[in-house]
Formats: sequence, structure tokens, C-alpha cells
Amino acid sequence: MKALKITAFLLFALLFVACGKQQQQQNVTRKDANEKIQGTQKVTDSKIERGKAVYDETGCATCHAIKGVGGKIGPALDGIGKKYDSKKMGEILLEPQKLNPNTVMPPFEGSEEDLEALVAYLMSLK
Ligand code: HEC
Repeated sequence: MKALKITAFLLFALLFVACGKQQQQQNVTRKDANEKIQGTQKVTDSKIERGKAVYDETGCATCHAIKGVGGKIGPALDGIGKKYDSKKMGEILLEPQKLNPNTVMPPFEGSEEDLEALVAYLMSLK
């Protein structure tokens, strides 16, 4: 009778440990998934970050202001991400004369990658 009790106890103990292990594994998967999501977030953020650098390097601020910082030759770009979609934004940067045939804004001449980053940055201004 005593041996049966001990066996039963051991079985329960084993079950308990096994459940704990499974729980731990679930936690690990969730952590992995979260890290993956955070990872993609970082990629997007760094693209916007790069876009801001392109904006600064290209001298857009000579003519445009964001949050009150920059020139007044062109319109302020606060909230510009709400005005256009990213396709239109890219078109404006490549061919500003489509916006105004006599515009003083020069067309963007950087790489495709920098253009994409710049658009991502402008689209983030909402
Ligand atoms: C020499 C001045 C000048 C520079 C440099 C310049 N822009 Fe412009 N930009 C303008 C002007 C002026 C307009 C308004 C269009 C017009 O009537 O000519 C404009 C319009 C725009 C618009 C559309 C604004 C709206 O409200 O519709 C965007 C977006 C824009 N510029 C982004 C940029 C970015 C990004 C850069 C840097 C790569 C840049 N501009 C460089 C003068 C400039």
C-alpha cells in the first residue's frame, strides 16, 4: 500500500515538472516572437532615422521648416505625411516641377535607397 502511494506521488511530481517545462518553452517562444517584432520595428525606425539624415544632408531645411526649424522659401513640412501617400511623395521629390512648373525646389538626385528613406521620414511627419 505504501509503495503504491509513493508511486502515485512520484507520478504527480513528474507530471508537475513536465508541465513546468512546457510552460517555460511557451514563454521562450513568446519571447522570440516579441524579439522578432521588435526587430522589424528597429528596421523601420532606422530607415526613418536615415531619412532624417538625408533630409539634413540634402539641405531641405534651407527652404523648409519642421517644428519651426528651417527656411521659409517652401511650405513648412509639419504633417506632410497626412497630405500625400508615399508614392506621390516620391514623385514630388523627383519632379517638384509637377507641383509647380516654376518651382525653385531642386529635384532629388540621391540614390534610390536614400529616396526611400527620405520618403519614409516625410511620411512619419503626421
Ligand atoms: C530651394 C528651396 C527648396 C529646397 C532646397 C527644397 N524645397 Fe521642397 N519645396 C520648395 C517650394 C518653394 C515648394 C512649394 C512648391 C512650389 O510652389 O514651388 C516645395 C514643396 C515641397 C513639398 C510639397 C509641400 C506641400 O505642402 O505640398 C515637399 C514634400 C517638399 N518640398 C520636400 C522637400 C524635401 C524633402 C527637400 C530636400 C530633399 C526639399 N523639399 C528641398 C522649395 C524647396
